[in-house]
Amino acid sequence: MVYIGIDLGTTYSCVAIFDNGRPITLFNDDGKHTVPSIVAYGEEEILVGNPALIYNTDLSNILYDSKRLIGWGIVHDLPLAEDRQLWTFNVDTRNKIAGYILHKGTPREKFVTPEEVSAEILKKLKLTAETYLGQEVRDVVVTIPAFFQAEQIAATKRAVELAGLNLRCLLEEPSAAAIAYNKKRKLDDSSILIFDFGGGTLDISILDIKNGNLSVKAVSGDAHLGGQDLDSKIMRYVIDTFAKSFNFDICDRPRLIKRLRTECRKAKESLSSVNGPINIHMDIKDELEVNVELTRERFQELCHENFQRTIYYVLRAISSAGLKVTQIDHVILVGGSTKIPLVQKLLGERFGEGKLKFDINPNEAVAHGAAILAHTLQKYESMPLINLTLNETASNVPNSFEMEILARKLKDHEILFYLNTNESGGTEGTVRIFNSQNCTVEKFMKLCSDQWAYEAAIASDKVRHFNFEKTLTNSFRYFMSVSFKIFSK
Ligand SMILES: Nc1ncnc2c1ncn2[C@@H]1O[C@H](COP(=O)(O)OP(=O)(O)OP(=O)(O)O)[C@@H](O)[C@H]1O
Ligand SMILES: [Mg+2]
Repeated sequence: MVYIGIDLGTTYSCVAIFDNGRPITLFNDDGKHTVPSIVAYGEEEILVGNPALIYNTDLSNILYDSKRLIGWGIVHDLPLAEDRQLWTFNVDTRNKIAGYILHKGTPREKFVTPEEVSAEILKKLKLTAETYLGQEVRDVVVTIPAFFQAEQIAATKRAVELAGLNLRCLLEEPSAAAIAYNKKRKLDDSSILIFDFGGGTLDISILDIKNGNLSVKAVSGDAHLGGQDLDSKIMRYVIDTFAKSFNFDICDRPRLIKRLRTECRKAKESLSSVNGPINIHMDIKDELEVNVELTRERFQELCHENFQRTIYYVLRAISSAGLKVTQIDHVILVGGSTKIPLVQKLLGERFGEGKLKFDINPNEAVAHGAAILAHTLQKYESMPLINLTLNETASNVPNSFEMEILARKLKDHEILFYLNTNESGGTEGTVRIFNSQNCTVEKFMKLCSDQWAYEAAIASDKVRHFNFEKTLTNSFRYFMSVSFKIFSK
């Protein structure tokens, strides 16, 4: 069975496979490569993507932003106060889960969790892959933002399960983009920065490329900094400008809010290629219409703080990697919001324009990376599992948490590892890797691939989330028969 890669995005999602030596994104029934991450709950059917956008049902049953809600407990704790006013669906908290309320206030009222909504999107992508391949698909690599917290990760895993898929790996979005870029360009030894500015999140990763291998040196970003936030800023501006001239509150009318969001997004996207001004227009009733002019300068002013924050996170990532700006060799732009000229200008001013790379499809790179990893995992599935024991000392260590280690023997000197924490895992900690001779991680780094051991150390900064895989080659024969004990401190 073919393994697939899925980019589960805030605004758009897509599925890719590895075919004929390269990753390809699959097109849906409407001929597009990406699906809007929108789900409509009708009387008898659930629709996903473009059909959901135009489905004739109560607007509050058309759900989006599940990636922003996923894994949250109390709705009012969400760092999305502004978004909430502009949402056209109803949200609430049930059993300590933030989710959606369908048919609110009627006998048919129903609570739907964000993971159920994400599962519908995943099902659609599964079906897309099955139609293309003409066979059932089960195994999947799904991407997530680099700094998703444990609850968000756990909820994403539940979504994958609900969709009837078998999760092979959760891969961080910028790492996925780096894998895709490296596959395409085969970069020499260098330091690269992935700048993934999408619809909902900003993800930044700094990676080292050595002998064709990638290792993550630092990550940073913001789970609530994306194109949706820019759209909301424009919407606020239009609503306020309109309210100054007319005694009419658009916010009271969900249908108008929905249309306004579409118009504002279109205006924002157009301003990336047109110098402007753009007219944001919407008929309301009889003589009443919205007509608000938006120039590039005004857009940049409205979103000034958002753009400055993107640079703040870039600098933070560079400093956590222990590098200087000048030591970054390539800046790879991924995600739809990198098409904004000001974003490119700000990055160009920092790094020099020559370092910005636009030669990868910003909408598909993440899914491509997931498909490449999916293919690697599929290839190795037929290899025998080898038995490595661990956790022998874990119970003696305060706050330790269990890890599962799975390894496959590829060749005599090559082993593929998968590491997973269990869900009740501890908090941040240091991962140490020992062999039976109590080899410390430093020694371990010398003995086997530096890169992998380094990643183990890096991964330890990521709360309860490991899930990485790596192929070990160098000198690994020393370790084939040893036990590993992995714990957090
Ligand atoms: N030409 C453009 N100019 C400005 N913004 C654009 C342009 N094209 C797309 N976008 C914006 O990019 C965003 C979608 O990007 P992308 O598909 O990378 O996000 P996503 O993967 O759904 O989100 P995330 O990765 O944050 O979960 C939307 O906000 C969209 O408006
Ligand atoms: Mg994305």
